[in-house]
Amino acid sequence: MTIRKIATIGHPVLRQVARPLTRAELETPAVQALIDDMIETMRDANGAGIAANQVHEPVQITVIEVGDNPRYPYKPKIPLTVLVNPVIEPLDDELFENYEGCLSVPDLRGVVARHTRIRVKYWDRHGNEVEQVVQGLSAGTFQHECDHLQGRLFVDRVTDPTTFSTWREWERHHKDAFVERVRALVARYGS
Ligand code: NI
Repeated sequence: MTIRKIATIGHPVLRQVARPLTRAELETPAVQALIDDMIETMRDANGAGIAANQVHEPVQITVIEVGDNPRYPYKPKIPLTVLVNPVIEPLDDELFENYEGCLSVPDLRGVVARHTRIRVKYWDRHGNEVEQVVQGLSAGTFQHECDHLQGRLFVDRVTDPTTFSTWREWERHHKDAFVERVRALVARYGS
C-alpha cells in the first residue's frame, strides 16, 4: 500500500465531477489498489474520509472511517466504509449546522448546513449493492465526502464566511459550543 499525495484547494482535480465505475473496472487490481491506498492515506492524515479525486483519481469512490481520531475526538465512530458510485437522498428537510474541515483545505474550518437524516445507496468494494440510513453528525461526514465526487468542497457551502476559522482559533473560540451541539445530536440519533 502507498500513501498518496493529497490535492489541495486550487487544484482542478478537486473541481471535476468524478466518473462512475463499472463493476468490471471495480474488480481490477488497479482500482482495488487505489481503494487500499485511499484507506492508508486517510488514516495517515487522520482524516474522517477521503474521496478518490482528493488523491488525483477522478472516479466515484470515497472511503470513510472514524475511530479514535485525534483530529475529531468528539465524532461518533463510523466503521470503515468504502462507497462506490454513491447517491445520497435526504429523508426530510431537517438540517443541522456542522463545523467542517477538509484534508484538501489545510487549516480551515467553517459552518455548513447538512441534512440530519439521509439514505445513501452505493456499491461496496466488491460491487455489492448497499443501502444505508445515516443520521446525526455521521450524516454530515457522508455528505461532505459525496460532495467531493461532485467537485464540491465544504467552503462552497459555507453561507456565513465569518464562521471561517483556523484550527488554532477554532479550538480556542468555537470548539466548546460545537461539541455541545454535537452532544445533543448524538444523544438524539446515537451517531
Ligand atoms: Ni474533504
